Amino acid sequence: MEKDLLIATEGDMEALGARLGARLFPGSFVALFGDLGAGKSVLVRGLGRYLGQDHISSPTFTIVQEYPTEPPLFHFDAYRLADEDELYAMGYEDYLTRKGLLLMEWAQRVPLALPKNRLEVHIAGSGAEPRQVRLVAFGTEYQALLEEL
Ligand SMILES: Nc1ncnc2c1ncn2[C@@H]1O[C@H](COP(=O)(O)OP(=O)(O)O)[C@@H](O)[C@H]1O
Ligand SMILES: [Mg+2]
Repeated sequence: MEKDLLIATEGDMEALGARLGARLFPGSFVALFGDLGAGKSVLVRGLGRYLGQDHISSPTFTIVQEYPTEPPLFHFDAYRLADEDELYAMGYEDYLTRKGLLLMEWAQRVPLALPKNRLEVHIAGSGAEPRQVRLVAFGTEYQALLEEL
């Protein structure tokens, strides 16, 4: 199941993040795809704000930032990872079992580490242009979520 959206502004991208935040469930996995400046972090910021976390910073250098929201938010950025092994070496499996919301920027860098059931968010566009967002649901929970979005 897929859904295409046109997201005109940064504010609209934050709002999409909040809409996802309202519907994701403990243990959710969201894989974010898109080039540098696509708006992946803007979406995560909107989701974090929805959960009451005002300062979402980019985890590009730390690979993961964890926020004590309810459920907890695990914000990953795979940009600087060489491969999946590096992800597993930093305790990735633990994050997957902790019933948080796990968001993975640059998911294309670690394709073998993505759970079978997941929501994918593909963002195209850059600069001040509107973004084309394609949401793809894998697994029944995510299909239901996407139908209601
Ligand atoms: N419609 C839009 N949606 C998201 N971001 C937008 C949009 N229009 C302009 N922008 C800008 O694009 C940039 C996206 O940056 P960021 O979210 O950090 O990208 P990424 O994490 O994908 O590398 C921000 O500077 C934001 O202000
Ligand atoms: Mg980013």
